[in-house]
Amino acid sequence: MNRVVGIRIISLEEVDSTNEYAKTIAPDVPEGTVVVAKRQTAGRGRKGRSWASPEGGIWMSVVLKPPRIDPRLVFVGALAVVDTLADFGISGWIKWPNDVWAGGRKISGVLTEGRGDEYAILGIGLNVNNPIPEELRGNAVSMMELIGSKVPLEKVIERLLFHLDGWYRVFLERPELMMAKVREKTFIIGMTVRILEDNTAVTGRVLDVLDDGSLLMFVGGQLRRILYGDVSLKFL
Ligand code: ATP
Ligand code: BTN
Repeated sequence: MNRVVGIRIISLEEVDSTNEYAKTIAPDVPEGTVVVAKRQTAGRGRKGRSWASPEGGIWMSVVLKPPRIDPRLVFVGALAVVDTLADFGISGWIKWPNDVWAGGRKISGVLTEGRGDEYAILGIGLNVNNPIPEELRGNAVSMMELIGSKVPLEKVIERLLFHLDGWYRVFLERPELMMAKVREKTFIIGMTVRILEDNTAVTGRVLDVLDDGSLLMFVGGQLRRILYGDVSLKFL
């Protein structure tokens, strides 16, 4: 099977958000088209929260056209980031549902968006050599900070595309294998956390990530399944 992710790469100096750009071109480009920008002026996280994207990081979106849009696509991004970090000697862990942490702080976030079954946009932000804004310092970290020196950005992009392509294939052909890896790399298993879903909060111990991507928790003596969605997870 030929490579899918990165068959075509659109490199921009500056853009509002690579996810927005990818959405506008998605209907007309082949699956696997990548949009990467040096800077984003309006980078976004979930629920419209802002994502700091100064020069030096990787701000990238991939247009995918899988047979069915599946929320587990987010893990293609998270696992590819974990493997890329490992290539540079950094141990990265998934904070379900959409972040990657390293050294106890957030190093990457994944934002999936879609339009029906037409296409999905897999947006990935990875702090590489970029400065971390003052207000995020306690919670966010870059590869440069962890390694102690500047990291070759082009090489990181190349590894990220390679791993995205690999995990996308696993997602398409053997999603249960991808979920086994997600389970292995999810550091919140065994921890007590608080989940905020809309305006309801549940507190309990995380038991597992299930094959459908949901979180299995032990809440007030009962098993409870938390579906992937716009949920917020805090440690206790
Ligand atoms: P929660 O679990 O509370 O929802 P989250 O980290 O998953 O938190 P998201 O909306 O998914 O929240 O991500 C956006 C958040 O990421 C922002 O509110 C900000 O705190 C943080 N953030 C913004 N830019 C960066 C960055 N470059 N690196 C790390 N974290 C960032
Ligand atoms: C999150 O943690 O909430 C996800 C952050 C995702 C940021 C990336 S950077 C590339 C793409 N473009 C965006 O505007 N957001 C994603």
